[in-house]
Amino acid sequence: MSKVDCVIGLQMGDEGKGKIVDYLAKNYDVIARFSGGDNAGHTIYKDTEKIVLHLIPSGILNPNIINIIGNGVVINPIAFKQEVEMLQSHGIDVKSRLIISDKAHIITPLHKAWDAYNESQLGSNKIGSTLKGIGPCYTDKVARKGLRVSDIFKPDFQLLGIKWNNTIGLPFECPNLKEFFEACKFLKEFRIEQTEILINKLLKEGKEILAEGAQATGLDIDFGSYPYVTSSVTTTAGVCQGLGVAPNKIGTVYGVIKAYTTRVGNGPFITELFDETGEEICKRGNEYGSTTGRKRRCGWLNLDEVNYNAMLCGVDKLVITKSDVLTGFEEIKVYSNDNLETIKGWSDINSIEFDNFLSLVEKNTGIPVTIVSCGTGRNDILLRDIYLMEN
Ligand code: GDP
Ligand code: IMO
Ligand code: MG
Repeated sequence: MSKVDCVIGLQMGDEGKGKIVDYLAKNYDVIARFSGGDNAGHTIYKDTEKIVLHLIPSGILNPNIINIIGNGVVINPIAFKQEVEMLQSHGIDVKSRLIISDKAHIITPLHKAWDAYNESQLGSNKIGSTLKGIGPCYTDKVARKGLRVSDIFKPDFQLLGIKWNNTIGLPFECPNLKEFFEACKFLKEFRIEQTEILINKLLKEGKEILAEGAQATGLDIDFGSYPYVTSSVTTTAGVCQGLGVAPNKIGTVYGVIKAYTTRVGNGPFITELFDETGEEICKRGNEYGSTTGRKRRCGWLNLDEVNYNAMLCGVDKLVITKSDVLTGFEEIKVYSNDNLETIKGWSDINSIEFDNFLSLVEKNTGIPVTIVSCGTGRNDILLRDIYLMEN
């Protein structure tokens, strides 16, 4: 019997989870998404071709991997169709590599319209949502009036359109549903089943499964900076509920952090930089949202935040990405124990100064940094010698 390993973001999203999942994928038979929807943007590279995935797991480039969209995910059929077509244009056969849960909820055009309306009502208190309809879809799920993937097979499914068109009291015009119903037809052609049963069967057969986190612990509905959060459970606990695996089936948890911090959207950010250093990090790190293109707010690494989030997620191994972005800074800052500490920067990843930075992270968190990412490519990875046997 094997266990489900997990890749979880320990900051506020965009830590480079997609790249790390793509890198680790060679060790796994299955990659599974368990939460969120197309609000995520996970960037990976097929040789030099850049691919941004929103809904489909980051194992999709590998023909030997089964990719699963679990019950905890919310699926916009229109976005799904577009993503499949984008992957097909890169020569990737999505249909044979993807299995979708019959219990995943469906994002409708009404959910998207509600998202935009809700944000428009918040004035200066806007969440900064990606406006993908995520919040309204999860709201309907919890209110027990959502639509699930299994519902699109019902003979009266199309009648919903008529019902929605006649909904009284909508503060906006009912969106056009033609494209939505066409996309639902497209979705129906994929392999849809009770993925919780499949996953547990595969575990029994000793197959290696990796759960791919979306968003991050700092955006979790319970533990993130509420209300400036997303509407799903983004922690390791979300893996259990979002895939249907019991807590004792969770294996190694990889916590991914950037060497600094970014946030796209509103909400608190203690180490945010408003000066030219922040601008420089943004420029060097190309910190623009993978989903919305918005400029990401940049600031120093906050180890208090990382510690809290690692505690919630039971992190076994840390992965640090984008260390190359800070290369060349004479000094950098790290926040820990409510204090912003200045340390010497590094001119090279293979330097004492960079080692000192990693040691500082390990000392503060008590968690080994086993993987360091130093570029966008799949092979821009350093496995730390001391832990080499384990990765
Ligand atoms: P995710 O949402 O956590 O998967 O991260 P995103 O894909 O939204 O954002 C991470 C961005 O950083 C992407 O553009 C990646 O190509 C890029 N990236 C990932 N790791 C590294 C790294 O080590 N160095 C640099 N320079 N870029 C990286
Ligand atoms: P990945 O998986 C960064 C942020 C939004 C907003 C808040 C709520 O790529 O790391 P929502 O659309 O869920 O209503 O937005 O959460 N957000 C993300 N920020 N990376 C993400 O995903 C995000 N998904 C949502 O910017 O602040
Ligand atoms: Mg992202």
